[in-house]
Amino acid sequence: MNGNTAAETIRLKKERNAVILAHNYTRGEVQDLADFTGDSLELARLAARTEAQTIVFCGVWFMAETAAILNPGKTVLAPVPSAGCPMADMIDAARLKAFKAEHPGATTVCYVNSTAEVKAECDICVTSGNAEKVMATIPRDREIIFVPDRHLGSHVSSLEGRKYHLWPGYCPTHARLTEKAVLDAKAAHPGAPLLVHPECAGGVRALADECLSTGGMCRYARESAAKTILVGTETGILHRLRSENPDKTFIPVSEALVCPNMKKTTAQDVLESLAEMKTRVEIDERTAARARRAIEAMLAV
Ligand code: 13P
Ligand code: SF4
Repeated sequence: MNGNTAAETIRLKKERNAVILAHNYTRGEVQDLADFTGDSLELARLAARTEAQTIVFCGVWFMAETAAILNPGKTVLAPVPSAGCPMADMIDAARLKAFKAEHPGATTVCYVNSTAEVKAECDICVTSGNAEKVMATIPRDREIIFVPDRHLGSHVSSLEGRKYHLWPGYCPTHARLTEKAVLDAKAAHPGAPLLVHPECAGGVRALADECLSTGGMCRYARESAAKTILVGTETGILHRLRSENPDKTFIPVSEALVCPNMKKTTAQDVLESLAEMKTRVEIDERTAARARRAIEAMLAV
């Protein structure tokens, strides 16, 4: 990013009364432009309470959509609307309705990595940062449907010691992290704690010291006495981990963990998004109102 892009973005941001939110996996140049960089939960909370009139959401579509659902009177811009989440697209409202029909009376929970129409069919949302706390609010005698991530679902289900009806969705980026890569990294850096994201497969999670959201990893990095930390998630997070902790070494367990959608947005796209006020996220109000209940139920926990 050149100085002109940054200066012009800051000027436009003031003119539009805008805030720029970026996910921890976005390009470093986008994180450097953003007012806030965080995990899905932190960004949803910020989106819910911002006083800015315009929110530029740098991440993937469902995140911008969540911000728009929470802010019906505001303008939410997604600089690159084709940046989607393949896991979110592994279920749609029709298939979820059919799944619900197989388990009548179950409480339906969706990972925030889901479309507005799927959220509209759910009772409550979770993110990887609050899933355990949110699930604990559901009475023990209820059956639970959990969509779309089978890995986050099975992770929380084993923490809770109860079974969920899991949808077989997964993150294609985190699926690239193999047990062999983890064992090799551990052998090369004995004693270094290993952090993985709950979207990783069970065999990988079982080898980790901590299974955390991206925000949880940032906190762990700040608070841990460890000088070398192994990171098992999308490599975009390394930018933030390294700039916030210059005295520590962060080693990606695999360089293959790159989410192509998170990388679509460049600093230039953010500038153009503000200059042309595009692409506005618009959701039909009936769907938005139903999805909002599920998101607000989560934010209230
Ligand atoms: P976090 O909520 O942990 O940031 O995760 C979001 C995501 O898409 C992970 O793939
Ligand atoms: Fe979706 Fe995985 Fe990319 Fe996260 S990392 S946005 S879950 S594809």
